[in-house]
Amino acid sequence: MAYSAKIGPSILSSDLSCLGSECVRMMDCGADYLHLDVMDGHFVPNITFGHPMVECLRKSVGQEPFFDMHMMVSRPEQWVKPMSAAGANQYTFHLEATTNPGNLIKEIRESGMKVGLAIKPGTTVEELAPWANQIDMALVMTVEPGFGGQKFLEDMMPKVSWLRSQFPSLDIEVDGGVGPDSIHKCAEAGANMIVSGSAVISSDDPRSVIALLRTVVAEAIQKRSLDR
Ligand code: DX5
Ligand code: ZN
Repeated sequence: MAYSAKIGPSILSSDLSCLGSECVRMMDCGADYLHLDVMDGHFVPNITFGHPMVECLRKSVGQEPFFDMHMMVSRPEQWVKPMSAAGANQYTFHLEATTNPGNLIKEIRESGMKVGLAIKPGTTVEELAPWANQIDMALVMTVEPGFGGQKFLEDMMPKVSWLRSQFPSLDIEVDGGVGPDSIHKCAEAGANMIVSGSAVISSDDPRSVIALLRTVVAEAIQKRSLDR
């Protein structure tokens, strides 16, 4: 099986005035990658940060941590080159935000980043499917994008199961309301890249939460490989 369990804390709900040290803290607690939420106030009703912040973060945390950029922006084409230059590793854009996903996928690859494709809760997985063989990761949102700390939408799980059945080696990420209470559903459905914001960041023991999430997902992956 090509994919493995990976846990990527979302630093949205951390103390944003200490973003560098928060990222280091998450990596020290066993995070596999960092999920960085970019919001432009248009695609979602909230604003976070852009490529200048990513450039500073990269300098501060070094070359090692993998930056998965969750681009909740209206014109994702605009930020491909700046994000690549700033040190992003993966550019995850929303299908709803572009009229030409094929061209955007090509531009992201040419700039040297991996390609993630995200869908909001109202977007069907059939709309994502035509691109699945050209991307590195599919992100199934499990809340409406825009804010941390929302309730996990369990009814998104059939999308994950369908994707897993159709694309057995694709990286599938879930994002929104994921933590110890909802991880079993995600793992069982076939997600392997797990974004967790408030459940990890606000925990007294983030290391244990990250380890728990990874164990549940790794066990589900193992079970699936035995069942095949
Ligand atoms: C929501 C963001 C998420 C969010 C996750 O729009 O894309 O990454 O920060 O935070 P929790 O896990 O608290 O829902
Ligand atoms: Zn996100």
